[in-house]
Amino acid sequence: MSGAFEKVYQESINDKEGFWKKAADAVHWFKKPDTILDTSNSPFNRWFVDGEINASYNALDVHVDAGRGDQAAIIYDSPVTDTKQTITYSELLDRVSRFAGALQERGVSKGDRVVIYMPMIPEAAVAMLACARIGAIHSVVFGGFASNELAVRINDAKPKLILTASCGIEVKRVIEYKPLLDEAIELAEHKPDATVVFQRPQATAELQEGRDFDWKTVEDNAQAVAAVPVKSTDPLYILYTSGTTGQPKGVVRDTGGSVVSLKWTMKNIYDTEPGEVFWAASDVGWVVGHSYIIYGPLFSGNTTVIYEGKPVGTPDPGAFWRMISEYNINTLFTAPTAFRAIKKEDPDATYLAKYDLSCLRTLYLAGERCDPDTLYWAQDKLGVPVIDHWWQTETGWSIAANCKGIELLPVVAGSPTRPAPGYDIQVLSEDGEQMEAGDIGALTVKLPLPPGTFIDLWNASDRYVSSYFSKFEGYYETGDAGYIDENGYIFVMARTDDIINVAGHRLSTGGMEEVVAEHPDVAECAVMGVADKLKGQIPMGLIVLSDTCTRDEDEVIKEVVKLVREKIGPVAAFKNALVVKRLPKTRSGKILRGTMRAIADSAEWKLPATIDDPEILDEITEALKAAGYAQD
Ligand code: COA
Ligand code: AMP
Repeated sequence: MSGAFEKVYQESINDKEGFWKKAADAVHWFKKPDTILDTSNSPFNRWFVDGEINASYNALDVHVDAGRGDQAAIIYDSPVTDTKQTITYSELLDRVSRFAGALQERGVSKGDRVVIYMPMIPEAAVAMLACARIGAIHSVVFGGFASNELAVRINDAKPKLILTASCGIEVKRVIEYKPLLDEAIELAEHKPDATVVFQRPQATAELQEGRDFDWKTVEDNAQAVAAVPVKSTDPLYILYTSGTTGQPKGVVRDTGGSVVSLKWTMKNIYDTEPGEVFWAASDVGWVVGHSYIIYGPLFSGNTTVIYEGKPVGTPDPGAFWRMISEYNINTLFTAPTAFRAIKKEDPDATYLAKYDLSCLRTLYLAGERCDPDTLYWAQDKLGVPVIDHWWQTETGWSIAANCKGIELLPVVAGSPTRPAPGYDIQVLSEDGEQMEAGDIGALTVKLPLPPGTFIDLWNASDRYVSSYFSKFEGYYETGDAGYIDENGYIFVMARTDDIINVAGHRLSTGGMEEVVAEHPDVAECAVMGVADKLKGQIPMGLIVLSDTCTRDEDEVIKEVVKLVREKIGPVAAFKNALVVKRLPKTRSGKILRGTMRAIADSAEWKLPATIDDPEILDEITEALKAAGYAQD
């Protein structure tokens, strides 16, 4: 170890303003900030307060102005439609400038919200960057969410305009987006002025005269517009994420902090240079898609990849290897679940032999805990460093990582390595005391959070404070529990709330419980995440039927499963439920989900001292065993 990482890390903690001022000097400002950090209203801390900037300008214009216009900005590869396309920085700038003009012509201006409900096609990038160009705030909703979830987000964000496409494609299934959007608008109290629909050859959306407009016509007829300077602290986007209830949290990210931090991470965490091909195999609907399919790589002048396919089945488990060799990809970033899917279908990685992967330098994994087996398998088969890093929608970039661009530290399986520069991570006990090395507690970050992290929750500043900053004064509560070992390595062990990670997708079991409880035959229910070999976790419902229910249990379960798919969406992957007689509770009536989860996963568990009726746990154990869980 050279000590280079330690030096940079200490500087980021001891001289925060100096550290981030230097990073800010590397991006384009319409007005350079004089005040680097304002902590006068903590936890609403603000970076680069008096600076003026534009994210779209930093993603596009700076590179074209620097003579990189002919370099590929986006490679689009869609095995599900058999399409490949390369878009240069000049072409992307032209499309984004015209689409930004089209948004303005439809009345969208600085501060207005635009909801984007789109599949993985280049137009999703055009949409996001066009909003940023005119200072409109985009809110991308993942395509796997159903109309009801989309409606909840429309009501909260109150968009002037909604951008969509006629369909998405899930391997071989064409999913028509427009009927889903129409239903969402019908359900929502807030109505957008208009929608703009990108028609794809696989499905043609019906357009409502006067409300829905054809994307191509709108873009072709628009006048290009220049990037508008916005305040550094103006929101770049809202991204809804699961909280503990059915009401999602609208994470707000500011513009200046995002540009500065994401550009900094491209070199220092991901070790990439402008011009190199960087692929984040995620979706624009998730935070990884925002930060590392769109903004980070484009801020740094990389070529980014929009891949409309899966790791397996499109057409085979060699899909990722084909992509890497065909496009000379240097850096791949995905979720461990993608590698588990590949490993399951091709355990010996026979498909690898068909491709030359000598261009690949590093694999980054995030989104869920990386199990050591998957890490070793990837390391062994690919022969490159495999770096697990710890992330949240709230932080926008990694809280802990092995910063290869500064110094590659020894990889320790099960740990995302050290706190990333800018993050002063502390492990605290329930009473806010610092834990000893190796002891598990709440993972927290001492304020201020670094630039690029969330600055608020949309329409919910009180919830911002109460959910994240009130339990430990002066600290951000990540909602994860874990420990730091004697070498300073972090181990993220579990969530402290009802959030689960299914195939790297963050979901709220509380939200699912709200839907299950709506079924007329359900008296009471609990949804918990149980271990799954492929997806890490999957939701499982335990249902108590109402006394008046005379119907077949299996029928009710089928209806409940259908209800969750309809109300939340296929992404919830809610397919398992069991009918039980009673649910175990504490004497104060709190359902003991954690204990039931430990039983289902055959993990160690202790009889909670506060349990009301211990016999119920025996009943639950029997029911779980009969369903194939809780095997000793
Ligand atoms: N639009 C509509 N439906 C979607 C969708 C979208 N954008 N994305 C997923 N779905 C559907 C899937 O088709 C599936 O439907 P099904 O129940 O009818 O089979 C359901 O939502 C669950 O999706 P998922 O959990 O992703 O399962 P999968 O079987 O389709 O794929 C993996 C499993 C592991 C291959 C896939 O999740 C994957 O590649 N994950 C890793 C990468 C990643 O995206 N990580 C996110 C954060 S980095
Ligand atoms: P999301 O907001 O969807 O990015 O999900 C964030 C949550 O995913 C975190 O709070 C963790 O619980 C989990 N997570 C993400 N990355 C990791 C990781 N590398 N190791 C362990 N858990 C992770």
